[in-house]
Amino acid sequence: MTNDTIGSVLHETRTFHPPQAFVDHARITPDRLTSLREEADRDPEGFWGRLAQEEIDWHKPFPQVLDSSRAPRYTWFEGGELNVSVNCLDRHLARRGQKTAIIAEGEKGDVRVFTYASLHREVCRLANGLRKLGARKGDRIILLMPNVPEAVIAMQACARIGALHSVVFGGFSAESLKSRIEDANARFVITADGGHRGGKIIELKSFVDKALSTGCKSVRNVVVLKRTDHGIAMDDKRDVWWHDLVANVKDTCDPAWVDAEHPLFLLYTSGSTGRPKGIVHASGGYLLGALLTSKWVFDLQASDVFWCTADVGWITGHSYVAYGPLAAGATILMYEGAPTEPHGGRFWEICEKHGVTIFYTAPTAIRALMRLGDDIPAKYDLSKLRLLGSVGEPINPEAWMWYHRVIGGARCPIVDTWWQTETGSIMMSPIPGAVVTKPGSCTFPLPGIDADVVDEEGERIQSPEEGGYLVIKRPWPSMARTIYGDDARYQETYWNKFNNRYYVAGDSAHRDAEGYFWILGRNDDVIKVSGHRLGSMEIESALCAHPNIAEAAVVGRPDALTGEAVVAFVVPKGARPEGDAATKLTIELRAWVTEQIGALARPAEIRYGDNLPKTRSGKIMRRLLRSLAAGEVIAQDTSTLENASILAQLAA
Ligand code: WT7
Repeated sequence: MTNDTIGSVLHETRTFHPPQAFVDHARITPDRLTSLREEADRDPEGFWGRLAQEEIDWHKPFPQVLDSSRAPRYTWFEGGELNVSVNCLDRHLARRGQKTAIIAEGEKGDVRVFTYASLHREVCRLANGLRKLGARKGDRIILLMPNVPEAVIAMQACARIGALHSVVFGGFSAESLKSRIEDANARFVITADGGHRGGKIIELKSFVDKALSTGCKSVRNVVVLKRTDHGIAMDDKRDVWWHDLVANVKDTCDPAWVDAEHPLFLLYTSGSTGRPKGIVHASGGYLLGALLTSKWVFDLQASDVFWCTADVGWITGHSYVAYGPLAAGATILMYEGAPTEPHGGRFWEICEKHGVTIFYTAPTAIRALMRLGDDIPAKYDLSKLRLLGSVGEPINPEAWMWYHRVIGGARCPIVDTWWQTETGSIMMSPIPGAVVTKPGSCTFPLPGIDADVVDEEGERIQSPEEGGYLVIKRPWPSMARTIYGDDARYQETYWNKFNNRYYVAGDSAHRDAEGYFWILGRNDDVIKVSGHRLGSMEIESALCAHPNIAEAAVVGRPDALTGEAVVAFVVPKGARPEGDAATKLTIELRAWVTEQIGALARPAEIRYGDNLPKTRSGKIMRRLLRSLAAGEVIAQDTSTLENASILAQLAA
């Protein structure tokens, strides 16, 4: 480790070597990493084929590794058969049945523990219950759950019967829930009476009721977990309590054997245009990616307690809570509530209480906890921690250093993991026992991943000073297969830019002189607020649906805490409001967006204009709006602008 002086000016050139104590016991040593990379470069298909054979229990072996004949619709291990829940649960029963699989801490401090045997039993019981309701292979099942073990049980139960789950984050609105149910044409919903968050009850069931009251005709039944027990309405014909459903079913359940390409789940995420898209992941390739990266990046060992703080409603909660670590036979921790409930030391208290050894969270959480001061973490024994991770947005070097020094005791490697809902598993990250890290860089692609930074023509950018498009040049097993019901949009969004040759991530990046990757941010119209992905068009459509709004444009501006914040430029119908009228409209519009999409999308700031800056052909100049939102002086050439005078109005 070099130059680790507290309080000195941070330079991106600092480097941190993996601590020897870590390297001594690491799963992947520098030599092993070199040989993995060599193997993957020499024969990518052979590499993935070998790993798929070794790491996954197949019911029927796969006859081929990769099929590129319908590129960019690649398939992996097609013809092979497996069941993902068998790979996460059954295969551990003989040797690890009594090992703790999940330690669950509720917001109120209640603790529950599931062994692999008891988790297996609960998954089988729910799977049997779902079958009793008529759920079958291929059905779509929507999950709206608090971050409790039953969320994982429900996901695994779907996997067991070959149904596709689509988990919806509990912070979205009933309107968003409805559009996802309808897009997926779901037959069942699994939810809870409520969840605990920030000292309040999140009304999950009443959200479902609201969504179903105006549409969602495909839904047959709603399964309801009793969590908060605060008295909710149940529809006798449609709703069934989870505990009643599993009261008289068997503890074992024959798994549905599915093709490796059978979809495991859909997960909706925002893109640059229109409505959220249902990203589809396939059983075999996804499982391989989640499992391998759990082992490689998090160095999972038999004695570890792994805590990924992500909610199961996001891809991180799929790959590093529900699937990867369980497939690896690890012990995971799940926490239901808010990071600062009832006090700012909650996360560190949980780490101490349960002996967490590996901790994985988002930069926005690190920054928020950093602001509370060093005294708070100092009150807790964090000495069991041995590895720290970051995900969701670029981590600024200051937050990285704090994480390293205050939480990691300058002893734990940090893995800054770059990936996406679409990539299914981590694509770029340090291997903790083998790669020298730099604060703010996700370092290098993992073995088998061919990432690069290219220019407008698709040529590799050689200069370390220059940014470009982040692309992946070869297919990989956990890649998204399509957008549910819209394959054309899938190809258009991710593949067409460079004629189907490369997967286009939507991020810009650059590589330094030593080849380290640095993510610069999105280059489409996606805004990242606290690591959550929001489509600017989605928020614009919501605003324009308001009766008093004529036009709206939404951009992100840098924010010290949340990474980015949503700024909306709005043209009202009629006169431009000022003073109290503007304040009143702002309050109304913020509530409106919360209602339409969810609180995450609520604009931090709304500015009103008589018009928006447009080119002569009528295109809104978002780049100018981004500068205005960030409070920058407009240095760009505005000669192509139709209505330059509008800038002064919007700058105010
Ligand atoms: C986008 C994907 C991957 C799980 C959580 C987010 C940004 C993600 C990093 C990182 C810089 C990052 C990118 C990416 N992102 N990880 N380590 N450094 N940026 O999944 O919601 O699909 O968002 O998050 O912009 O494209 P997601």
